[in-house]
Amino acid sequence: MKVGIDLIHFATSNYYLDLETYAQEKGTDPNKYLIGIGQEKMSIAPPDEDIITLSAKAAAPILDKIDKNTITAVLFATESGVDQSKSAGAFLHGLLELPNRCRVVEFKHACYAGTAALQMATSMVRANPNETILVIAADIAKYDIDSSGEATQGCGAVAMLVTKDPRILAIEPGSGYYTEDVMDFWRPNHRSTALVDGKYSTKVYLNSLKQAWEHFTESTGRKFSDIDAFCYHIPFSRMTEKAHKTLVKKVGTPVSEALFKSQTQPGQVYNRLVGNSYSASLFIGFCSFLDNAVQDLSNKRFGFFSYGSGCVAEFFSGLIQPNYQQHLMTTSHQQQIASRKALDYQTYLEFYHTDTFGQNNIVFSKNNLGPYRLMDIQNDIRHYVKTS
Ligand code: HMG
Repeated sequence: MKVGIDLIHFATSNYYLDLETYAQEKGTDPNKYLIGIGQEKMSIAPPDEDIITLSAKAAAPILDKIDKNTITAVLFATESGVDQSKSAGAFLHGLLELPNRCRVVEFKHACYAGTAALQMATSMVRANPNETILVIAADIAKYDIDSSGEATQGCGAVAMLVTKDPRILAIEPGSGYYTEDVMDFWRPNHRSTALVDGKYSTKVYLNSLKQAWEHFTESTGRKFSDIDAFCYHIPFSRMTEKAHKTLVKKVGTPVSEALFKSQTQPGQVYNRLVGNSYSASLFIGFCSFLDNAVQDLSNKRFGFFSYGSGCVAEFFSGLIQPNYQQHLMTTSHQQQIASRKALDYQTYLEFYHTDTFGQNNIVFSKNNLGPYRLMDIQNDIRHYVKTS
């Protein structure tokens, strides 16, 4: 039985900070960002946008295409949780009016959790083909002002419907994985921003890729030449290039520049403009590949490398289904990115400092122009509203 991603859609915020504006403010050469890390813009969430509103925006168009009463579970991956006890999926469940005969749980391990949720959903459907599972990966990447990570912020949410006989991607059994207790990136409970040892984190990422790949080849018997396209976790788009070069070197198969590009480049288009969205980044990269590839991807095998600092990594694969093009939500993705408003640096700072972290008894100004917004927090209870 085939199991995998039946529908996929992502959402991002209505605002962005251009890295040229950022470079001007910081007095640095814009090419450090445009070329050096391969980023042009970063999506910035206003204070009345959080992972719940972003994920509702990501999931609603999928629910419009199905009977939402068939959803049996919501598996919500995030490292930007809004509550230590109640899962983000429970807020989303209410906002989207999902059925009560449904389970909801939150997954966490840095950027890896989206893959954990997807693999869990896949196993649940394999065990019971009547399951229809909504997997969410949503995050707001936030670092300290003037830290090395600041230029790699961003935000986004991906919603994936996981079912039998999927229309987009059949996930193949077997994967390679790697865990090591390291301090490359972390966010203690008292902080709203992540701490990072930037250069070290890229080294650990690349080592984890080599280890997970080795395990993947041993456990599945698949080789580099069996894979047509590669989607990597993208904290910044140059990381894809570094990762693919590392893998090509490890397998020792020469790859022409044209092949290298066709194997990786379509997957970077959106992330260059959205920035890091932690658990969602790998899957926004997948949407980017599907929407931007010039050739028909039917029956092509995709390799996915998921990396979460701290660290946990997994390499897995899937086959694109025939006629997948008919089920893509390309127009929505492109319109969302194109219709965002540019922020000046001062407004970016105002949004940045009105973080909902630790806030209580506050009513938010209406900046979020999306279909769902965080209205206020009263007596430590968050109130969301559907605006359209
Ligand atoms: P940095 O110190 O700001 O930048 O940190 P740099 O000086 O290393 O420059 C970056 C690149 O730009 C270099 O190229 C420069 O040569 C080049 P490279 O050596 O890498 O090939 N450069 C220029 N190029 C053209 N024209 C110029 C110019 N100037 C410089 N004028 C760093 C970069 C990535 C460390 C920083 O952005 C950072 O700390 N980012 C956050 C951490 C991160 O994203 N790590 C990635 C791996 S860990 C991960 O992916 C997990 C994560 O998503 C979290 C999770 O799991 O939840 C982060």
